[in-house]
Amino acid sequence: MTRVAVIGAGPCGLSQLHAFARDPGAGSPSAPEVVCYEKQSDWGGLWNYEWRTGLDEHGEPCHASMYRYLWSNGPKECLEFADYGFEEHFGKPIASFPPREVLYDYIIGRAERSGFRHQIRFSHAVRRVSRSAGGSGFTVTAHDQANDADTSEDFDHVVVSTGHFSIPNMPPYPGYETFGGTLLHAHDFRDAVQFAGRDVLVIGSSYSAEDIASQLWKYGARSVVCTSRSGPMGFDWPDGITEKPILTHVDGRTVYFADGSTAEVDAIVSCTGYLHHFPFMDDELRLVTANRLATSMLYRGVVFQPENRILYLGMQDQWYTFNMFDAQAWYARDVILGRIELPGADEQARWIEAAQAEEDALADDYACIDFQGAYTQDLVDQTDYPDFNTPLVNKMFHDWKKHKKQSIIGYRDHGHTSPLTGTVAPIHHTSWEDAMDDSLESYLADSPRPMSDAPTT
Ligand SMILES: Cc1cc2nc3c(=O)[nH]c(=O)nc-3n(C[C@H](O)[C@H](O)[C@H](O)COP(=O)(O)OP(=O)(O)OC[C@H]3O[C@@H](n4cnc5c(N)ncnc54)[C@H](O)[C@@H]3O)c2cc1C
Ligand SMILES: NC(=O)c1ccc[n+]([C@@H]2O[C@H](COP(=O)([O-])OP(=O)(O)OC[C@H]3O[C@@H](n4cnc5c(N)ncnc54)[C@H](OP(=O)(O)O)[C@@H]3O)[C@@H](O)[C@H]2O)c1
Repeated sequence: MTRVAVIGAGPCGLSQLHAFARDPGAGSPSAPEVVCYEKQSDWGGLWNYEWRTGLDEHGEPCHASMYRYLWSNGPKECLEFADYGFEEHFGKPIASFPPREVLYDYIIGRAERSGFRHQIRFSHAVRRVSRSAGGSGFTVTAHDQANDADTSEDFDHVVVSTGHFSIPNMPPYPGYETFGGTLLHAHDFRDAVQFAGRDVLVIGSSYSAEDIASQLWKYGARSVVCTSRSGPMGFDWPDGITEKPILTHVDGRTVYFADGSTAEVDAIVSCTGYLHHFPFMDDELRLVTANRLATSMLYRGVVFQPENRILYLGMQDQWYTFNMFDAQAWYARDVILGRIELPGADEQARWIEAAQAEEDALADDYACIDFQGAYTQDLVDQTDYPDFNTPLVNKMFHDWKKHKKQSIIGYRDHGHTSPLTGTVAPIHHTSWEDAMDDSLESYLADSPRPMSDAPTT
């Protein structure tokens, strides 16, 4: 029997398990045995909120990068699973930018219905993937945290779905060692309330920077200064948030910027991105790529070009997420089952080169969105994953970008269209800036709950 190891039970790993479970051949004697290793004690990946930072209870690096009060930064309609809609899950239309707990509920809802939880070995951290002794497959060695013991098993294929937004990229700036305040990476940011009344510097100009700056403002920071090396984010910020050129150095509590100006701050949050980090893969099996749309080394963004029996999911920089992960998982499944015939190594290398050249020539973010939409559609076309109208999703991403330009604080006050049902989402009962209760109960309610019912922050 063919054996498949899936590493990680976040959205990508769950997509992979679901793709196998949904296959018409599932349960037949010729179906592969699929085993998933997950180092945390539950599924959901980044969406499984973790209050810890640093090391987890077993001494492993904490995977979590999500923080309290996180709401989806893209419209949920752009990530909707094509075979399991939001309306089906929640029993009614809901607004377009759900908080983390709501999206977690949705992801888990499909996984529970699919019924593959017994295939996941929780609290098993994969330590090594190497070629097996006979050379016919791969040996996966994991640490079973509950029994404090290593286990090794052989597999014919390995699907790596361990994410790439967990290991901080934290560039040092001169004088950090003299800084007397709080200095952390976005990976360790948990609760904006901690910074109420304080002056905070945010480094970076991408999603973490814009969202953490907005969170700090919402939860009462006295001032937020954003600093970036590639130009300002350029949003119409509310009073209290300003932008500066890149910092040059720090001395005590004083931060110096490239234009000669300074700021006194109590905290620095480095929103400087993450590393693709796969220390458990043997050198020859390890993906090495920048965070980009057309990843290096992956044919069709999925199949490891030097060794096609190793597959990686979700390794792209992401506009599309859950539905793209599904399309990749369906494609990976069909490669493993031999339904998709792969071209030779040279042709695969040419495909990767052409995709990267095309990405390098893209004019702007709108073109990047369309590029990832076309990539996803290409995978959908090669499998039986339901078609879900990528042109509509592209258009909604375009609209969303324009809404953000109009108001970075108010862009979530828009309703988008489900590609599955055509339903236009209702506007949430409370604007993001005023919604202090981001529980699932509050989000799904038709009107705000009295604040006395809300969790204290
Ligand atoms: C702060 C933040 C906010 C985000 N917000 C959004 C959003 O609003 N909307 C959106 O669509 N996307 C968002 N994303 C993008 C996010 O990447 C995807 O939504 C999604 O979580 C990626 O799924 P994944 O399975 O690839 O990785 P992850 O969710 O990271 O899951 C990987 C899993 O692998 C496990 N694992 C790792 N190493 C090992 C090992 N050695 N052995 C065993 N298991 C291991 C981890 O424990 C984890 O469960 C956000 C990302 C971040 C960092
Ligand atoms: N609410 C939400 O849903 C939410 C919130 C936060 C994050 N996210 C998600 O999390 C993922 C990661 O986003 P991210 O913003 O953390 O990472 P990212 O998109 O990779 O951005 C990294 C940022 O770090 C900057 N940077 C890198 N090295 C630097 C250096 N040496 N000095 C100064 N700046 C440096 C980059 O600047 P350059 O542009 O100059 O390279 C860029 O602005 C995304 O998928 C995003 O959607 C979602």
